[in-house]
Amino acid sequence: MRKAIFSFLQTPIIGVFLGVTLVLLCLFFGAILFFSGSSSTQYVTFCEEDGGCRSKDLPYQNALLPIETRVNDLLSRMTLAEKIGQMALIEKNSIRDPNDIAKYGLGALLSGAGAKPTPNTAEGWFEMVKAFQGYAKKTRLSIPLLYGVDANHGHGNVPGATIFPHQIGLGATKDADLVRAVGRATAEEVAATGINWVYSPNLDVALDTRWGRTYETFGSDPVIAGTLGKAYIEGLQSFETNGIRVAAAAKHYVGNGASEWGSSSNKDFHIDQGDSTLSDVEMRRTQIEPFRHAIEADVRSMMVGLNNWNGEKVVFNTYLLTDVLRGELAFQGFTVSDWYGVYEKESNLYRALVYAVNAGVDMVMLPFDYKLFSKNMHQAVANGDIDQARIDEAVRRILIAKFETGVFDSDVTDHAGEIGTDQHRELARRAVRASLVRLKNDGVVPISKKASRIVVAGSAADNIGMQSGAWTVEWQGIDGNWIPGTSILKGIQDRAPSSTTVEYDLNANFTTKGMADVGIAIVGERPYAEGWGDLEDPTLSGEDLTIIAKLKQVSKKVVVVIISGRPLNIKNDAKDWDAIIAAWLPGSEGAGVADVLFGDYPFVGTLPVDWDL
Ligand code: BGC
Repeated sequence: MRKAIFSFLQTPIIGVFLGVTLVLLCLFFGAILFFSGSSSTQYVTFCEEDGGCRSKDLPYQNALLPIETRVNDLLSRMTLAEKIGQMALIEKNSIRDPNDIAKYGLGALLSGAGAKPTPNTAEGWFEMVKAFQGYAKKTRLSIPLLYGVDANHGHGNVPGATIFPHQIGLGATKDADLVRAVGRATAEEVAATGINWVYSPNLDVALDTRWGRTYETFGSDPVIAGTLGKAYIEGLQSFETNGIRVAAAAKHYVGNGASEWGSSSNKDFHIDQGDSTLSDVEMRRTQIEPFRHAIEADVRSMMVGLNNWNGEKVVFNTYLLTDVLRGELAFQGFTVSDWYGVYEKESNLYRALVYAVNAGVDMVMLPFDYKLFSKNMHQAVANGDIDQARIDEAVRRILIAKFETGVFDSDVTDHAGEIGTDQHRELARRAVRASLVRLKNDGVVPISKKASRIVVAGSAADNIGMQSGAWTVEWQGIDGNWIPGTSILKGIQDRAPSSTTVEYDLNANFTTKGMADVGIAIVGERPYAEGWGDLEDPTLSGEDLTIIAKLKQVSKKVVVVIISGRPLNIKNDAKDWDAIIAAWLPGSEGAGVADVLFGDYPFVGTLPVDWDL
């Protein structure tokens, strides 16, 4: 038989015919591969509605197996396109078509500050996240999403959530157990809305308090920042409900708190996204230290900052991201770049991506163009600019974090949980009490029970938005009393003895005759976020100073309560104020201020940053 075929092929005409046919076939299939090649490698299989393309009961789907076994199994089944998808983090409003979540196998979504669902309720968030997860589950391997938010003082995006003091206030408490409880309560409220990833704690160490992000930090002491950060992570990551846990992202690794005035790479900012010239030793001592504590708490992820160190972007710095973070500190979680951080100030987007991934960025907060990301990543692998092994390493870390949150095993399809519970509000009120720092007191606080008349004024007296600061519903915060909570004024009115009259006027225009026993001015900074708050000389506004002066004229003693994200320059104004209280940005539970003003609880807070009085 073999011989017969051989002699048949030897016939010259048949041989030429077969040869031409072979060439044509090669050209035909080659063309198909050429025209479909780039896109077919970028897409992840989209499954049928009935989920028919999914296999069940594979090792990675078995919750009883160790995470390592599950990750190994899952990785071995993934295509390059599926792996690349896992490395992408997209802002939810940049998803052009929700089917893209499956098409590109996207690994994670986020709501940037203020990116809310309609309606902006706990239920609305839950339904939104659930719908996104539904699309992710349609992929061939049904890999669920991480969904991230900036719950940096409670689940601040959601009206009705408990708003805890911003971290600067928690830094004033120096109370790790309290901070651990705040972390846990935050996880509970976040998980109640279907979310499994939180971009906090902020472990930057603020060396220059003119920086607009000072209040996001625990202060200027790296060891305190580390101790409180560790406690927060322990609390946040230990919460579990129906098998769902929340992953923390310690941020921003590393050094933004040391950025120098005037060094920002953003033309609108001064310090934020700037450059520091710290020595290696000082960088480690003042900035890296808190992240060491976070790693002790087994933090699941770390966000890489938008700042520079000695002129080089940290996001491209292999020494910091790989040698120090992985080699020395033995960080096991995954790294995620900050908002557009890989591309910021880098016009060649391909090159920027190659640098960042090779330096040690595992997940890229794009947060916009996932199509280009997918294309460039495929190109980088094809060109040999990014090794497949580097991609496997990054995806392994991301998958471990996903398995640890339980999102593979729990079907969050029930109703949303509760936010803003009485228990959490009570915890927040406790945190407010512990955060107050008495900067000056000429015998007026605690306010005497015998005070028969108290007058209250000031821009922050009756304004829950202002006392909550930024990252509350909107990135730059809100104004007024339209989210649930208690204004500081209301706290005072509720707590004052029944024999005491409390009068309020925002501008201190009091007409009642005679001097009040005590005037309480509640004044401070309007909310700001990030570099928009960089300010050369933070101080009180002229209006607030006028209000304090007017209050002084109608009161025997004046107490000034300062709502601010950092120390304010009050040196020339404060001489005739009888008491000064730093209340930081206390959040929704303003009643905690009255608890201490009226002596039900002592002042225990101490300064988290220097305040030159
Ligand atoms: C901030 C991060 C934040 C991220 C996502 C960035 O602008 O620097 O702290 O986590 O946005 O909202």
